Amino acid sequence: MHIEHSEFQDQLLRGLAHKMNNILSLFHGYLGLLMDDKQLDAATLAGLARIKEGAGAASELMDRAGSLARPSSLIWREINLCDFLRCLKPSFTSYLRQKSTLEINCSDEVPHIWADMSHLRVATLEIVRNACEASPKGGVVTITAAAESPVPLGLSSAAQPITWLSLTVTDHGPGIPPHLTEKVFSPFFTTKQKQNAAGLGLTVALGLVQRMGGVVRIDSQPGHTAVRLLLPSRSETM
Ligand SMILES: Nc1ncnc2c1ncn2[C@@H]1O[C@H](COP(=O)(O)OP(=O)(O)OP(=O)(O)O)[C@@H](O)[C@H]1O
Ligand SMILES: [Mg+2]
Repeated sequence: MHIEHSEFQDQLLRGLAHKMNNILSLFHGYLGLLMDDKQLDAATLAGLARIKEGAGAASELMDRAGSLARPSSLIWREINLCDFLRCLKPSFTSYLRQKSTLEINCSDEVPHIWADMSHLRVATLEIVRNACEASPKGGVVTITAAAESPVPLGLSSAAQPITWLSLTVTDHGPGIPPHLTEKVFSPFFTTKQKQNAAGLGLTVALGLVQRMGGVVRIDSQPGHTAVRLLLPSRSETM
């Protein structure tokens, strides 16, 4: 799947996310004030808390949708993937289900990558969040950073010598059935029952990775799913 961008759509999405977030922060502010009222009965307070939660979820949704809109330029910088993963570890851990564990494999031999830090961060978090949500109780989620040599199939770099790097996130959950491996990238596609599952994680991850010149590959069977972000260490889009 390839995500197409048009300047008009990007502008519209960015503008919408910005305006909606302004409105939602007003909601938050006023709800906070109302909820400070000590005279409120429990039922009213609970109702206000639900509205506040809804406003928070809407705000997160707008942020994620907004991150899909192409910014005027990416900020390319050299990133040490091991440090990057180490810094994000607390966020990864916060997604883990009870008794599940996280393993990070990254050696100093992994070359640095040139990428947009914020894009890489959001894409990685979305993939890890999915793996943690799919992981069975007590399961292990693994994140592995590696240099890809030889160049992965379909990513010929004949015209330009590029080192490809990968971040692979593995879990031992139920897997993605073969007939859904393309569909899961579609906006708003979700199989999750949980409230607030918008079906945006993979769409966002794919959009951001593609913008950095990379691809997302899924290799899944029941009990073993590996989602791989493949990125050129120096992108043609720089
Ligand atoms: N590691 C995984 N194991 C099993 N299924 C997965 C995995 N990652 C993604 N999926 C499937 O892909 C679907 C789409 O994922 P995506 O991240 O886009 O949305 P979501 O996780 O359902 O919702 P959101 O990310 O908005 O909370 C999921 O609903 C699930 O069916
Ligand atoms: Mg998700």
